[in-house]
Amino acid sequence: MRRVLTAVLGAGALLLAMLVAVAPPASAAPGTLKEAAAAKGRVFGAAAAQGHMGESAYASTLDREFNQLTPENEMKWDTTEPSRNSFNYGAADQLVSHAQAQGMKIRGHTLVWHSQLPGWVGGISSRDELLSVMRNHISNEAGHFAGKIAYWDVVNEAFQDGSGARRDSVFQRVIGDGYIEEAFRAARAADPTAKLCYNDYNIDGQNAKSNAVYTMVQDFKRRGVPIDCVGLQAHLILGNVPSDMQANMQRLANLGVDVHITELDIRMNTPADGSKLATQANDYRKVVSACLAVSRCTVMTVWGITDKYSWVPDTFPGEGAALLFDDNYNKKPAYTAALEALGGGDPGDPGDPGDPGAVTCAYTRTAQWSNGFNGQVTVTAGSSAVGSWTAVMTMGSGQQITALWNGTPSTNGSVVTVKPVSWNARLAAGASASFGFTVNAPGGNATAPSVTCGSP
Ligand code: G3I
Repeated sequence: MRRVLTAVLGAGALLLAMLVAVAPPASAAPGTLKEAAAAKGRVFGAAAAQGHMGESAYASTLDREFNQLTPENEMKWDTTEPSRNSFNYGAADQLVSHAQAQGMKIRGHTLVWHSQLPGWVGGISSRDELLSVMRNHISNEAGHFAGKIAYWDVVNEAFQDGSGARRDSVFQRVIGDGYIEEAFRAARAADPTAKLCYNDYNIDGQNAKSNAVYTMVQDFKRRGVPIDCVGLQAHLILGNVPSDMQANMQRLANLGVDVHITELDIRMNTPADGSKLATQANDYRKVVSACLAVSRCTVMTVWGITDKYSWVPDTFPGEGAALLFDDNYNKKPAYTAALEALGGGDPGDPGDPGDPGAVTCAYTRTAQWSNGFNGQVTVTAGSSAVGSWTAVMTMGSGQQITALWNGTPSTNGSVVTVKPVSWNARLAAGASASFGFTVNAPGGNATAPSVTCGSP
């Protein structure tokens, strides 16, 4: 009996070993930023603006890729308390509902900041009055969203570049150094479940400003001022990721706080080209890798979804292309690099714009007259060559293509799918092909068609 049992067990073990040997490989690498980040115990977020949520590509890219949402402007003081004690949370509430429905975390941004501050606050000159106005603002706003916010940027940009001295602001002038800790105490009282962060730019590497933040956090931790995290905004310039970013994050983490990358973008002089996009991809890879190397770096957030709506060109004319998706929601090389650095990989779905070795595309209007226009789409290969490409254009209301050259169109309602002609199908790495077309647009509707492209 014992021998039989041993034989059965032996056969079972052999069968098990065979099963293990022929078992399929572990499931495919995560195919989106949020899935890849989650597999590493991290959160990958984006800033979003309520005004763009009606654009389907905007909302669907947000929902597909990100699991944390930071309202870009909707929770700032000039929106939420434009006049004293009169509170307005309409746009922010809509973003919060969207995020909750999608299972995204929400980052509150921001309770106390010198900018986007309504004029009535700047006019207060009594310390007691401003302290009570600030506490009232925090208690009302953080109280309104209590229980829904994962992280609050409680105080934003309180230090100067260069010296690391306190930035001049009405809070600093009228209340003095203590305003920051008072703000953190008020936030904790209003929402005990949110993690409370100090957030600033140019504190990504080690410098006088990040030293000042370090010293403040160290002091807060020693004295029991409630602070849970530091946000490094990471508004970076192409080719300039600080080499000591990881060390800087680690020294902050060693104080007993989490570290978040809160507003990541990497701007370049526009127009973008293959070489700049490749440098940018490498820069994103460095930032993501630095965060992953620090166990308390738990959140990475990009400051916008698409280059189309980034703040950068408004503030730095001639610069832009700073984000992971281009104006047409194509994945950029930076997207692929960030995803790979997170341990993910693009699943390579047919027709998915931006697949490895795939293409990006850009539309320009080249001529216009009263009832029509000419357009051109340029398709550009990424870091590897492609054997062929496809562009899909959705035309505006009433628009009809009457001629198309250097491409092979097929039309289905308002959707026109364009394949190459024989001589412009193959694109070397970084190379481009363009096709042009004439649109008949009764009523003069020259709205740009929305264009996505992929390979093949
Ligand atoms: O909503 C009005 C619109 O009605 C008006 O027609 C238009 C005309 O200028 O202005 C619109 O408001 C603009 C708002 O963005 C919404 O687009 C403001 O002028 C503009 O100043 C504001 O810029 C924001 C900026 O903060 C203000 O300082 C950017 O969108 C936002 O991305 C940016 O975000 C900051 C973070 O909060 C803190 N860290 C730096 C980061 C980048 O500057």
